[in-house]
Parts: sequence; structure tokens; C-alpha cells
Amino acid sequence: MRDRAHTSVLALPYIEALCTDKKGRYVDATFGRGGHTQLMLEALSNEAEVLGLDRDPQAISVGKALAKEDARFSITYTDFAGITDAVEDKGWPNLTGIGFDLGVSSPQLDQAERGFSFMKKGPLDMRMDFESGQPLSEKLKKVSESELAQVIRNHGGERFAGRIARSILNALHQGGMNTTQDLENVCFHATPKKMRHTGAHPATRTFQALRIWVNDEMNQIDQAVQASMKLLQTGGRLVIISFHSGEDRRIRDLIEKQVNGCVCPREFPMCACGFKPTMKWVQKKPIRATAAEIEANPRSRSAMLRVAEKLSET
Ligand SMILES: C[S@@+](CC[C@H](N)C(=O)[O-])C[C@H]1O[C@@H](n2cnc3c(N)ncnc32)[C@H](O)[C@@H]1O
Repeated sequence: MRDRAHTSVLALPYIEALCTDKKGRYVDATFGRGGHTQLMLEALSNEAEVLGLDRDPQAISVGKALAKEDARFSITYTDFAGITDAVEDKGWPNLTGIGFDLGVSSPQLDQAERGFSFMKKGPLDMRMDFESGQPLSEKLKKVSESELAQVIRNHGGERFAGRIARSILNALHQGGMNTTQDLENVCFHATPKKMRHTGAHPATRTFQALRIWVNDEMNQIDQAVQASMKLLQTGGRLVIISFHSGEDRRIRDLIEKQVNGCVCPREFPMCACGFKPTMKWVQKKPIRATAAEIEANPRSRSAMLRVAEKLSET
């Protein structure tokens, strides 16, 4: 779906997978600009309720305006660690569905002052919640070269993580690491010449990795998936869109533990560890965007949607 600011990815499969009961209670845990929420509200009946969550104060302002227009909708300012509290505050015993559309929104990327984009000159910030936590500039002052290289390698899959980490900290110590353009420039020059113009821009993977680090996104995913599986009613759906393989693997592994977490040795004729599945896969192989969606919205190219269903109360 396209609104003024953000084009929601995989909109149709997301809504079809999530909205299984027109009268249900749902959480859109990544409200953003409300594109997916609005589609949910269109698909649901007057008796349904939707709670939006976001850690970005700007998203919350958009959500508050929507809540005034549609009594079925409300919004809470929280990160994923607060999902359970937010649902309990509503007094909802359990949920029909919880949806996630991870990563950053287009408005976050487009506003230079948020510091997410290597295409716009801005401060080294990258916080989704700019009212708490430490901006990238502060985190860089405290990190060692080897830790930084690990962040860039693990969260960005960057081959030249070591060289880039060294160059970032050298520039920082010489006073030349103040803006996103400085960071982009360092990534470009730390990449071997013959690799600078092949594939994605040399800063792409490092910017992704540093954003994940600043926002502690991997821990947030762990908390999100674990809490969500508990909050669902039997038959309730967990629907998650992620944008890179590290995130997707983490989500898959957390759900797979509840689907197939038997730890008995292979040679055992039957399970003796007492494992009982609490989730089942509805969509184990991720759904990807069609060629037409990718052409209309290049951001959907890397989107992966997984769907799992609650088997029993835990
Ligand atoms: C890709 S956008 C969602 C766009 C939305 N589905 C739409 O159609 O407008 C992701 C949103 O999730 C929020 N977000 C990401 N990680 C979060 C977290 N750990 N806790 C709360 N909000 C988060 C971001 O601030 C951003 O607004």
C-alpha cells in the first residue's frame, strides 16, 4: 500500500496471513506510517480492535491521529520489550494475530537529520527512538576496533569489515567522523578500488550493520518473537516481514524451537525429552515480493515474510 510517506511491502500476503478473524484483536508491532494497520482496519469488521506499537515518536504522532479517526485503533509508544505490558494494559487476554514489518520506514530514511542514510548528509545518529539511547556518534567513542569490525561483519555481512572499522576509528580520532557523509566516504575508501563500483554502494552493509547495533535490533527481535508466541490465542498468527538474512534466520530459529524443539538423540525411537510443539509453520519458506512489486517498490526486493500459528496456550 502507498501512503504519502511509506509504501508497505508484501501488503496482500501480510493481511491474508494475519487477519484470519474479522472480529479479532490484533497488534501491529511496527506501526511506522500505518500502511499495514490501515489495510488491516479495512479488512476487519467494526468489532475488531488493533493496537499499534512503535518506538519512534514521529510514528506515534501519526498513530494518535489515526486513533482519533477510528475507534477500533489505539497506539502505544514502546519498543518490542514492552509488547506484553502494552497488551496487558489493554486488558486483552490473548491475541488473534501479531504482525511485524521490521527495519526502518521510508520517512526515517528520508529525513537527513535522523542519520540513517548514506545518501543524505546528517548527524551520526540512527536511533529509531531519538528520545532515548545513544546515537551512533556516542557509541563509536566507546567501541574497540575489533568489536566494531565484528558488528560490521555480523550484522552487515561485510567482507572488508576489519579495514572499514579501522578507517572509521582512525577518522574519528583525527576529528573527521562527524556526519553520515564522512562515514560514507570512509566506507568507500576502505573498500578495495576494484570493488567500489560493483554491486551495492560500499557503504550499504556498514550502514545497515551500525543501525542494527545502535537499535539493538537482534535482541529486540528475540524479545518480540518470544513475547508474541506467548500472547497469541490458540490458532493466532505471528506474521513477520524481515529484510536481511541474519534477521530472518534468527526469527526462523526462534519459531522452529517451538515447532520442532525435541532434543532427543536421533537414534531414539521416540521422543523422551517431553517436548510438545506450541507453534506450527503456516509459511516456513519465506514469501517474497513479486517482480511487479519489486519494480514498483525496490525496497521490497529483500523482504521475506514468515507465518506461524499458535497450537496451544503456554
Ligand atoms: C518498516 S517500518 C513499518 C512500516 C509500516 N508497516 C507501514 O506500512 O507504514 C518499521 C517501523 O517499526 C519501528 N520499529 C522497528 N523496530 C522496532 C522495535 N524494536 N520496537 C518498536 N518499533 C520498532 C520503526 O520505528 C518503524 O517505524
